[in-house]
Amino acid sequence: MCGIVGYIGEQQAYPILIKGLHRLEYRGYDSAGVSLISENGDLNVYKAKGKVVALENGCKGQDLTGTIGIAHTRWATHGEPNQVNAHPHYSESRNLALVHNGIIENYKALRTELENNGMTFCSETDTEVLVQLIEYMMKSHNCDLFEGVQLALKNVIGAYAIAILEKKNPDQLVCARKGSPLVIGVAKKSDGHVEFFLGSDATPIIEYTNQVVYLKDEQIAIMDRKGRLDIVNLSSVHQTPQLDTLQLNLDQIEKGGFPHFMLKEIWEQPNALRTCIRGRLNPTDKDVILSGVLDHQDRFLNCRRIIICACGTSWHSALIGKYFIEEACQIPVEVEYASEFRYRNPVIFPDDIVIAVSQSGETADTLAAIELAKEKGAFLYGVCNVIGSSIPRATNSGTYLHVGPEIGVASTKAFTGQVITLSMLGLAIAKVRKTLSDDMFHMLVDELYQIPDKMQWTLENNKGIDKFAERFTYCKNFLYLGRGYNYPVALEGALKLKEISYIHAEGYPAAEMKHGPIALVDEEMPVVVVAPKHGMYEKVVSNIQEIKSRGGKIISVITEGDTTVKEMSDYYFTIPDTRDCYVPLLAVIPLQLLSYYVAVTKGRNVDQPRNLAKSVTVE
Ligand code: AGP
Ligand code: GLU
Repeated sequence: MCGIVGYIGEQQAYPILIKGLHRLEYRGYDSAGVSLISENGDLNVYKAKGKVVALENGCKGQDLTGTIGIAHTRWATHGEPNQVNAHPHYSESRNLALVHNGIIENYKALRTELENNGMTFCSETDTEVLVQLIEYMMKSHNCDLFEGVQLALKNVIGAYAIAILEKKNPDQLVCARKGSPLVIGVAKKSDGHVEFFLGSDATPIIEYTNQVVYLKDEQIAIMDRKGRLDIVNLSSVHQTPQLDTLQLNLDQIEKGGFPHFMLKEIWEQPNALRTCIRGRLNPTDKDVILSGVLDHQDRFLNCRRIIICACGTSWHSALIGKYFIEEACQIPVEVEYASEFRYRNPVIFPDDIVIAVSQSGETADTLAAIELAKEKGAFLYGVCNVIGSSIPRATNSGTYLHVGPEIGVASTKAFTGQVITLSMLGLAIAKVRKTLSDDMFHMLVDELYQIPDKMQWTLENNKGIDKFAERFTYCKNFLYLGRGYNYPVALEGALKLKEISYIHAEGYPAAEMKHGPIALVDEEMPVVVVAPKHGMYEKVVSNIQEIKSRGGKIISVITEGDTTVKEMSDYYFTIPDTRDCYVPLLAVIPLQLLSYYVAVTKGRNVDQPRNLAKSVTVE
């Protein structure tokens, strides 16, 4: 997820672009860049690693003139976050500069083709392929920028929002989108002049105009200084621009209309996971392709054991990963708290694989744990969200989550991103080790592919949580129970409640309850039970009975259509049916929402809870 800004009009573009980038920084902030066509007709590009202020510092003393420009704040997906990979990217002749938000899935094949045609590349990004392809099309078809963009985009697989400047044509700005958002602001001045603003969302635009056009998939827009806005689709059909009036304020737009980043990120999960599996899970061939495994097949074939190191929420997803990998790949898997692992003297063999799971990729304990494993010769694999962070740089291979920046301190979409990535990893390893029958493998791929839709269903069908969460705000304790794959879900539900509402909560394997925690159960104690109709369903029903007979209040997560647990529950959330191993991806959603609404009702700062930090880079 990146932020794009653009401007064409009579004003100096640079200050507008920088201000817009600051507004979009929540979308990504590992590097930033700006491109302007100067008063002398030069196409200048300035870029910097780090936040937008680093770009501003780097721009001091440069030629910042120009009334047309584009800018970008990056959340890297392909290639380290450094200055070279930052956007805008020039085409080879430097006639074009382009910014991009999204992922070009077939960039490798396109790059090879362009290289075979003599083009050279500076960066590791998928984005540079796009700008080079446009230039290539313009030259080989002897056409203008618009047609070049159209021809290029017809060859592209993936998602994009792009904006392009052309040195030879300083009076027009071209943009296009598919899958990633792009908004055009139209400001008509009293003297009749029209200026255009561009943004990944309306935040960079709203202070200049409330008249916007939301570009639709596969539309290309051309804006010029005469106030012309032409929108054409990939098949050359002209589209009438639909002007909308913005109703929202700045803060609301940044959070996509949600009151908090956490709620936005909870609702973002279906799409975030679609991005995560895109190009990796193939529903047609029923296949899984993870280059991190493919490139090191021998290590996975010959490994003796897998150790997963993580902290907090990532440790919970690691536990689900363990259950899945052991079941699918028949390899022993151990899950370790990184902070414990690093300070004991663990037995690590050179044919072990050590997986580090971390949203930030910067957690000090997890980093130290893999450094230790490195010394002992193990193969290191990273499962991280932040591209180019310390853990991916320190590991031999890995898979990024690609769920976009997570701003809320309480992890939500990163958790489900980790669980789905570890499931794909398990399937990819099972393929190498041939531990699953073809039928089982295909069925597991198929079902995993449907998870984002089932998540959407779960979100849509559990809307009443805000109403009843209020009743629990005065509780001092909560108990969360689950068995098998859902035991880590119980742990995660309890952690979510603790960190943002400051209510004490414990997660427990449901059957362990009778060995101690049951003593806590009374009329004051809400017990959240993850009870899908699977594996140990009957046993969980008995556990619920035990709680009820002691007066405990039951809040359950049940499979759609289940009436037994529904009738035993004081409150229930429904999830669609899926395979046992994928239930956590759905069951965690109502628990995230429950903790969110309890915390909001208590007036807590849900996005920045006390004493916590998003990235724990100290011990
Ligand atoms: C999650 O809600 C927490 N804020 C925390 O437990 C977090 O998961 C932990 O600090 C690990 O972070 P990481 O995934 O960035 O390594
Ligand atoms: N794929 C592009 C890059 O890595 C854009 C990233 C994004 O939109 O998240 O530079």
